[in-house]
Amino acid sequence: MSDEDRAGPGGTTWWRDAVTYQVYPRSFADSDGNGFGDLPGVLGRLDHLVELGVDALWLSPFYRSPQVDAGYDVADYLDVDPLFGRLEDIDTLVAAAHQRGLRLIIDLVPNHTSDRHAWFEEALTAGPGSAARDRYVFRAGRGPGGNEPPNNWQSTFGGPAWTRVPDGQWYLHMFDPHQPDLNWESPVVRAEFAKILEFWLDRGVDGFRVDVAHGLVKNPDLPDWPADGAAPAKALDPAAAAPADARSDMNVLWERDDAPMWDQDGVHEIYREWREIVDGYQGGRILIAEAWVSPQERLARYVRPDEMHHAFNFDFLTAPWLPGQLRAVIDRTLEATGSVGAVATWVLSNHDVVRHTTRLAYPDPVMARAGGIGPGDPEPDVAAGLRRGRAATLLMLALPGAAYLYQGEELGLPEDTWLPDDARQDPVWERTGHKARGRDGCRVPLPWHADAPSYGFGPGPDSWLPQPEIWARYALSVQVGIAASTYEMYRAALALRRELRTGGEALEWLDTGDAEVLAFRVGELTVVTNFGASPVSIPAGLMPVVASASLDAGHLLDTDTTVWLREPAA
Ligand code: BGC
Repeated sequence: MSDEDRAGPGGTTWWRDAVTYQVYPRSFADSDGNGFGDLPGVLGRLDHLVELGVDALWLSPFYRSPQVDAGYDVADYLDVDPLFGRLEDIDTLVAAAHQRGLRLIIDLVPNHTSDRHAWFEEALTAGPGSAARDRYVFRAGRGPGGNEPPNNWQSTFGGPAWTRVPDGQWYLHMFDPHQPDLNWESPVVRAEFAKILEFWLDRGVDGFRVDVAHGLVKNPDLPDWPADGAAPAKALDPAAAAPADARSDMNVLWERDDAPMWDQDGVHEIYREWREIVDGYQGGRILIAEAWVSPQERLARYVRPDEMHHAFNFDFLTAPWLPGQLRAVIDRTLEATGSVGAVATWVLSNHDVVRHTTRLAYPDPVMARAGGIGPGDPEPDVAAGLRRGRAATLLMLALPGAAYLYQGEELGLPEDTWLPDDARQDPVWERTGHKARGRDGCRVPLPWHADAPSYGFGPGPDSWLPQPEIWARYALSVQVGIAASTYEMYRAALALRRELRTGGEALEWLDTGDAEVLAFRVGELTVVTNFGASPVSIPAGLMPVVASASLDAGHLLDTDTTVWLREPAA
C-alpha cells in the first residue's frame, strides 16, 4: 500500500517522520498565576516549539474533570476544564498552531470516564439492569451476600479493581475508583465516542493520542487473573515479584500477554472504525496508540494499514542502556512495523515514567517504572544521567520513523527526586499506601527563566508542585545560544533531521568491531554511540555535525556519547 493510500482521502503522510512534543498543560506555562499551567499559557509559548523545530504538539487532557488523575478522569469530553481555560482557547490554539506550521494532537481517554461524568451519575441512580448501567462494567459480587469483588483483578494504581455501590453491585476500574471503566461491548458507548471524535475533528485537531488503547475490551468472562493469584510470571525485574498491591507498576502488569483485560483482539475493531472516521477528514488526521503491549509483533497490530498511525514503542523506552539490548529492540521494532507497512514510533520520556535523564543514571531499569523515586531512595548521579540522556536522545532522533519528546527534556530536566512526600498529588501514592511514590517527579512545572519567581512558569511564585532549586540551572533562559547546552543540541539535531529527512530513510548497521559501540547509517547521516568506558575514534573521513558531548581532540568519542557525522562538503 502506498503512502498516499495509507494517508486517506486528501491526506498527507506528514506523520511518518514527524517529531511531536508532548505538552502536559498543568505544568507547561501558567498565564494567570494560580500555579496551574493553562491553554493561554501554551499559546504564549507556542513559538518555543517552533524554535525548537518540532512538527506537532500533543496536549495531555484539558477536558472538564475533577482532576483526580490530573485530567485523565474526564467528566465532559466536549468541554475544557476552567482550570485550563475555555473551549474557545482550543480553537485559538489550533489556529495559532496551524499558522505556525505545527499540527495539534489531543488526548482521548476512552477506557474510563470520571465518576462525575453524567453517564456514571445516571448509571448510579438508574440501578442494576438499566441501560445507563450498561455503559459501564457493573457486576454482582461473589461469595455470601455478594460481598466479594466479582474477580481478583488489581487496579493499576494499587488495590482492588472493583468498588461496591450502595445497591450491592460492583463496578470495574482498572485505575482509580474515580475512573470507572466503560463497557466497549455497548453500541451506545461506541456511538458516543464516534461523536466525540467528530466534535474535535470538526474543530480542526490533527489527531488523537488514545489513552490505554490496549485496555478498552476485556475478556467477556472476566476470569480471575492471575488465575492462581500468583505474582506476574513475566516479571522484568526483581521488584516485580512483590505482591500485586505492594507497588504500582504499569509496565510489569501490562506486559503479560495472557492478561484478560489488556490487548484483547476486540480492540482492533474499534480502531478500524475510528480510522474510517479520521480518514473522512482532509489534512492527514492521525491516531496514536498508548498501548503497553509486548512483544513488538503484538504492538504492530495496532498500526496495521486500516488502524492507527503510531504506537508508542515502550520496549525502547524501558530498554536498559546496553548496546546489545538497544540494537535488538531497534531491529525488532523496524521489522515488526515494517511487516505491516507502518513506521516506528520512538519515545524516551512522558508524564508516566521517570525522566530518561534520571532513569538512565541507574544500572537497574526498574527505575523506569511508575513507582517513582523519592527521599530515602538511592540518589541518581545527575551529571552522568544527563550525559547518557543526551546520548540516548541523539541516538533516538536519528532512527527512522516518528519520535515523541516530553516537555522539559529539551532542557535536560532530571526527575525531581527531591519532591517532599507531602506534596505528592498522583493517586498512585495514596492507592499503594505510600509504597509507590508515583509520577509527580516528572510533572513538576517547567523552568523558563533562571531568575524569575516560579522560574518563569507563571507570573507569580505559585506552582502546583514545588520546583526544586536546581531548576535554575536548567531554565531555558540560561541555555539559549549556549552551544553546549541541551536545548541547543536538541535544536541542532531537529534542524538537521528535518533538512536531511532522515526519519524517512532506512537504517543500515555498520560493523564497529567493538561490542560497546553502535554505529549505523541513515541517509546521509552516520551515527555512532560509545557505551564503553574507553574513548573511541570517530570513523575517518567524516565530519561531526551534532554531538551529545564534546569530542576529545576533535575526534575521540568518550563514554556515553553519540555523534552524528556527515561527509565533508566537497
Ligand atoms: C495515562 C496516565 C493515566 C492512565 C489512566 C495512562 O496511560 O498516560 O497518565 O493515569 O492512563 O488514564
